[in-house]
Amino acid sequence: MASHKLLLLPGDGIGTEVMAEVTRIIGWLNKRGIAKFETETGLVGGSSYDADKVAITDATMARAQAADAVIFGAVGGPKWADVPYEARPEAGLLRLRKDMALFANLRPAICYPALAESSSLKKDVVEGLDIMIVRELTGGVYFGEPKTITDLGNGQKRAVDTQVYDTYEIERIARVAFDLARKRRNKMTSMEKHNVMKSGVLWKEVVTQVHAREYNDVELEHQLADAGGMQLVRWPKQFDVIVTDNLFGDMLSDIAAMLTGSLGMLPSASLGETDPKTKKRKALYEPVHGSAPDIAGKGMANPIAMIASFVMALRYSFDLQKEADLIDAAIAATLAKGLRTADIKSDGAKIVSTSQMGEAIVAELDALTA
Ligand code: IPM
Ligand code: MN
Repeated sequence: MASHKLLLLPGDGIGTEVMAEVTRIIGWLNKRGIAKFETETGLVGGSSYDADKVAITDATMARAQAADAVIFGAVGGPKWADVPYEARPEAGLLRLRKDMALFANLRPAICYPALAESSSLKKDVVEGLDIMIVRELTGGVYFGEPKTITDLGNGQKRAVDTQVYDTYEIERIARVAFDLARKRRNKMTSMEKHNVMKSGVLWKEVVTQVHAREYNDVELEHQLADAGGMQLVRWPKQFDVIVTDNLFGDMLSDIAAMLTGSLGMLPSASLGETDPKTKKRKALYEPVHGSAPDIAGKGMANPIAMIASFVMALRYSFDLQKEADLIDAAIAATLAKGLRTADIKSDGAKIVSTSQMGEAIVAELDALTA
């Protein structure tokens, strides 16, 4: 059996707590001889700053590049509010994305049947929801230069961020999204703001061309990103795949997360280009939620987004579809039994801790494979 090398980067806050539950699942897969994972652990974010004064060291970057997949928890917290901008916890994550060229961020928002009541939206709006947000991850305003604050000398300062996209960046993310749509319900919605932004004009033009040239069997629709946000909470089931830029994708995916019941439910995969020779691609898997300093250390965090991110690794890095389906089924069964972490609590449900949720999912794995 092939052995897969994982680099675990738990990070800060609840990152370490939810990662412990992934380690539990990996232990189960290894023990059962279902798969063979070798894991290493590293520091990122504030915990890396505390140890080495940087958000991620060159040595950890090299280990990330060498791993078959990186499993990432969360970074940040008030403790590091005053560290130099270059060394802020988020810089570690941004460097991983940029240096590993992880341009495609897949954020699936799925509403488990048991959680349709937990959403702040009406049940019929979210029941059965299954959409995929494809966020461009290495371009746009996150990385565009110049990115500065200048003192104008008259008591005023000027801050500049730059939104920039080249044709090839839009083409490659559009292809990832069209390919996913073909395997799903064959519909893609592209979101930008061409009514205000030049990058939006080019985005729309390039997506339209890629569609006409290579994917005219897929239904393509364009929405302005603000209207798209409104449609996401009005009637999210109109969407199948949404493709959008780095900043809009950040915002729209947090909105989409709440459709699933909680930010603690949304996983993500960040993928690079597939190497034509080895057929391998660089990949990092992380929950969409952050480090949640307010509940860190209390054993309250929901580990499902983190576990589901690992499930995405099984699907996208290791082609272990059966194993991925099995863990998904165990998550659904655990929720169906009424077990809830605090973020998804509902009337009559049993509130459990982070580790109790992890244990319950493993118990379901045992039951499903008995
Ligand atoms: C996310 C996060 C990050 C982002 C932060 C932590 C830099 O919010 O992955 O959505 O803005 O991309
Ligand atoms: Mn975000």
